[in-house]
Amino acid sequence: MTRYSSRTVILHWLSGGLLLFLLMTGTFVLSNMPNTVEKLGSFKIHMILGLIATLLSLVSIGVILKSPKPEALEMAPWRSKLMKSNHIAIYTVVIAIGVSGFILAQSASLGQIIFFGADTALYRSFKDFGVGVVHGFLTKVLLFLVVTHVLGVISYSIAHKRNIMNRMWF
Ligand code: HEM
Repeated sequence: MTRYSSRTVILHWLSGGLLLFLLMTGTFVLSNMPNTVEKLGSFKIHMILGLIATLLSLVSIGVILKSPKPEALEMAPWRSKLMKSNHIAIYTVVIAIGVSGFILAQSASLGQIIFFGADTALYRSFKDFGVGVVHGFLTKVLLFLVVTHVLGVISYSIAHKRNIMNRMWF
């Protein structure tokens, strides 16, 4: 096999796109907005897409473990270990972000306010919650892992004069 299974390819690009969207809008839009009723629509989108991204990661783990893999890339053992650790860390951190986001939303009654119309006042800042600080910190860790993931692909392609992007395409 010269490439990943079609199911793996679809899940990879779907969750990659969703995660980038959540990382960018969370960092540059959501966290800069004051907590007023105008923010509820953005929260709703963030919470729904965040839960979908977390579920997609869980599904991806199952699909990757079950699907046949393409032949291993030629590389030094240390680099191969680093690559595997990067992949495992990405899944672990995405799931931890999803769980911390869910706990944060529950602690601040966001779910009840947004989905069930509860008349509870919005908290002034979600950074008052320890789990909110954890959620924000983990998103920076994820950004670092995604950047090193992409740099790894680019540096391998240049060093081996081989386009390995087509392994993750149809
Ligand atoms: C894996 C998917 C997710 C990603 C990548 C993500 C990303 C982010 C980012 C980048 C921020 C801004 C952090 C900062 O201020 O430094 C944020 C904030 C937040 N997220 Fe998520 N998130 C995800 C899932 C979730 C889920 C599932 C929920 C709730 C069900 C959630 C609820 C929140 C809340 C309440 C905030 C606080 C926004 C604020 O400070 O105003 N997130 N998220």
